[in-house]
Amino acid sequence: MNGLLTLKGLSPNIIQSIIDTAVSFKNDSSKVTSFPDKKMVTLFFENSTRTQYSFQVAMLNLGITPIGFSSIGSSIAKGESLYDTVKTFEYLGVDGVIIRHSQNEFYKELENVNIPIFNAGDGTADHPTQTLLDLMTIYERFGKFDGLKIALVGDIAHSRVAHGNAEVMKRLNMDVSIVGPEIFIDDTAPRITLDQAVDTCDIVNLLRVQFERHADVIEMSKDDYHSLYGMTKARADRMKKDAIIMHPAPVNRGVEIADSVVEHKKSRIFEQMRNGVYIRMAVISMVFEGKL
Ligand code: NCD
Repeated sequence: MNGLLTLKGLSPNIIQSIIDTAVSFKNDSSKVTSFPDKKMVTLFFENSTRTQYSFQVAMLNLGITPIGFSSIGSSIAKGESLYDTVKTFEYLGVDGVIIRHSQNEFYKELENVNIPIFNAGDGTADHPTQTLLDLMTIYERFGKFDGLKIALVGDIAHSRVAHGNAEVMKRLNMDVSIVGPEIFIDDTAPRITLDQAVDTCDIVNLLRVQFERHADVIEMSKDDYHSLYGMTKARADRMKKDAIIMHPAPVNRGVEIADSVVEHKKSRIFEQMRNGVYIRMAVISMVFEGKL
């Protein structure tokens, strides 16, 4: 099993080469290789719009045939395991599998699978292609990672994006800190205040409050959360001139971010989505070419 499961074992050089490949695909479509004989399946056991469909668009851009899968209507509904489902697709002749699953490190039970597996988000642990598209967005803005100050803001504890981003960003010598209410804080990075983040950071990376992951309803009202931890227009305007706002989306408008800030000139939220297609094209082609 190769593919892309986590960025943890990948050196900064390889990470940079994935970003460079994605940027080259974005700037020059003649750089894109085609894999017309390949077919891949997207197995999503959690909801997804951007990740699922950008993987599908990426496949179409690479000439790969995408196969969709819904656990409803499949033998998962009869109790079939993840392993048996993936093994089935291997023996149907599929060339790669893209999986999102609520279980952290779901891929550990798939070691006997012989086709590439791409992690599209595992529980609260990791989301490697999201981290890569976030890095690409930062790289396009600043042309470097070293020394940049980033604050991850919001529901850190339940966010695979926060956990995955922090691990790689620290290794790229970025100065990572976290901001949020006590119940969402863990040991991902040192904690700072939202005011410090707004006034000093190059990047404010907002995170969605993961309402579906905490049965324990947060005590705070959405309005209170917004005024204490949300990116209001006043805060966005106060950020450094060159600073940017990111969010993996979907956004809870009026909670993590004011409606009017989603498309603020400092916001890169929709550009992140565009970059996601190129990152997924880069990752898939590098795996098929044996470069990853
Ligand atoms: C993220 C996810 O699902 O992990 N979204 C995404 O992939 N674009 C973040 C989230 O759902 O909050």
